[in-house]
Amino acid sequence: MTIASKTRIAVLISGSGTNMVSLVKAGQQADCPYEVVLVLSNIEGAAGLDKARELGVEAVALPHRPYGKDRQTHEQAVDEVLRQHDVKLVVLAGYMRILTPWLVQAWKGRMLNIHPSLLPLYPGLDTHARALAAGDAEAGCTVHIVTEGMDEGPILGQARVPILSGDTPDILAERVKAAEHTLYPQVVAEFVTKAEA
Ligand code: GRF
Repeated sequence: MTIASKTRIAVLISGSGTNMVSLVKAGQQADCPYEVVLVLSNIEGAAGLDKARELGVEAVALPHRPYGKDRQTHEQAVDEVLRQHDVKLVVLAGYMRILTPWLVQAWKGRMLNIHPSLLPLYPGLDTHARALAAGDAEAGCTVHIVTEGMDEGPILGQARVPILSGDTPDILAERVKAAEHTLYPQVVAEFVTKAEA
């Protein structure tokens, strides 16, 4: 596959961007069907922005704070940047904003998210502590299409990891994160391949 035929994707982050790095690196392989053309963060100075630039990807900060409670106007500004970059798919990777129905509708069927649990178990926050408190034998992560309900959209792929005795939420989070780094690029590649077929 030539670079010209790769699907152009944007990754939205708020923090360290380790999943974003995995997505960018996978996208830079010659046989990968997508390329990350833009990394956007709602946090000025998010660590992931510099990581993206080091990998040669354009990285833009578009802070939500100046917009106050007006989420939709901030999202419209985000949407404009996405469209300026001719993005075909939006990939959320630790983007810590609750989206309004407006942005979800604007990218309906073309926005993915990764969540650090085996959905439908544990939507929302503190997933690892909740899995441990429940005495679960395994944990994992889920890639899904973004819909208006939080962490509710159709599931595209999951990876499972064991929960081991002595696990703390931090230890478990690290094991799950390693699985995320493999799962997310695989599922995004499969998704864009199917979308093009
Ligand atoms: C990941 O655990 C992901 O599942 C969740 O946010 C975290 C982002 O981590 N949605 P990173 O910034 O990719 O390291």
